[in-house]
Amino acid sequence: MQNISLTRYLIEEQREDRIGADLRLLIEVVARACKTISVAVGKGALGGVLGEAGSGNIQGEAQKKLDVIANDVLLEANAWGGHLAACASEEMDHCHPIPDVYPRGNYLLLFDPLDGSSNIDVNVSVGTIFSVLRCPEGVTQAADEHFLQPGTEQVSAGYCIYGPSTMLVLTIGNGTHAFTLDREMGSFMLTQREMRVPAATKEFAINMSNQRHWEAPMQDYVRDLLAGETGPRGKNFNMRWIASMVADVHRILTRGGIFIYPWDRKDPTKVGKLRLMYEANPMSLLIEQAGGASSNGRMRMMEIVPTQLHQRVPVFLGSREEVAKATEYHLAHDAKATSAVA
Ligand code: AHG
Ligand code: MN
Ligand code: MN
Repeated sequence: MQNISLTRYLIEEQREDRIGADLRLLIEVVARACKTISVAVGKGALGGVLGEAGSGNIQGEAQKKLDVIANDVLLEANAWGGHLAACASEEMDHCHPIPDVYPRGNYLLLFDPLDGSSNIDVNVSVGTIFSVLRCPEGVTQAADEHFLQPGTEQVSAGYCIYGPSTMLVLTIGNGTHAFTLDREMGSFMLTQREMRVPAATKEFAINMSNQRHWEAPMQDYVRDLLAGETGPRGKNFNMRWIASMVADVHRILTRGGIFIYPWDRKDPTKVGKLRLMYEANPMSLLIEQAGGASSNGRMRMMEIVPTQLHQRVPVFLGSREEVAKATEYHLAHDAKATSAVA
């Protein structure tokens, strides 16, 4: 593959009128911020960045130092470029309009600055997830409600995974592509054009410790997976669970699989653990652009109309035949429940 940097890829996409200068600048700025976060993550104990920050976020979670550092890096990097109207983050209660001292642009940026935080202190891959929406026409002071757009409105989405290598996986709506950070040059280099998720899979990713809390169709679906080749699925399955969505999704984009974080009754007030706006939707766009599928167990993820900035959602995403199968278990269960009532 020719030496194509992220900058060259974006310029060529702009030349083909698939993105404008502002979106190109936005993506370059986010990529540069991810390089800064990668350096901080890579320092580990030597950088004094491990452990708790001593603060909490709107999710009711204790923040890690790197959650806060990553959030600050992304806010600072995006403040002055004139490409953004506002940012929203897992780590901030409300959206953060670009300060008045800087010009504002027409995009809204959402991010999970550090995904998989529970893995930081045990040196397992973590990442940054981002999603880009258009700021609604005529809005000069963006507020939370302007972010409440379905995933189909995203103009770009991506993640950076801080693993053995640091990789940026990106879509601007024209396929999903992977760039690997050349640390000596400081450039993201295109290393995989057009990632494709195999339609079928024998690998599922789920936190099995929650099994007793799942609803019936979820219990049935996983029971049949575990029954293997002598069961209804007629094939044996393997399981992986890294507890970093970015790492699990990266594996699925690379070799297929299904990633599931279903509803569970541990906290019935929460419809899921993962957040729609800056985890499920960006990952869904990347997966669909690579030929996969993503649902909440009952409908296409990206068609969900958001009602809250930090709303949670059950997630089923990956190989499209497997996502369809898992969704089928849920819809069949609902149909039976409805006819039983009728
Ligand atoms: P975050 O660190 O941004 O809060 O996200 C963690 C999420 C996701 O990355 C992962 O798939 C999931 O939490 C793991 O949940 P469990 O620890 O319950 O398995
Ligand atoms: Mn996360
Ligand atoms: Mn996070």
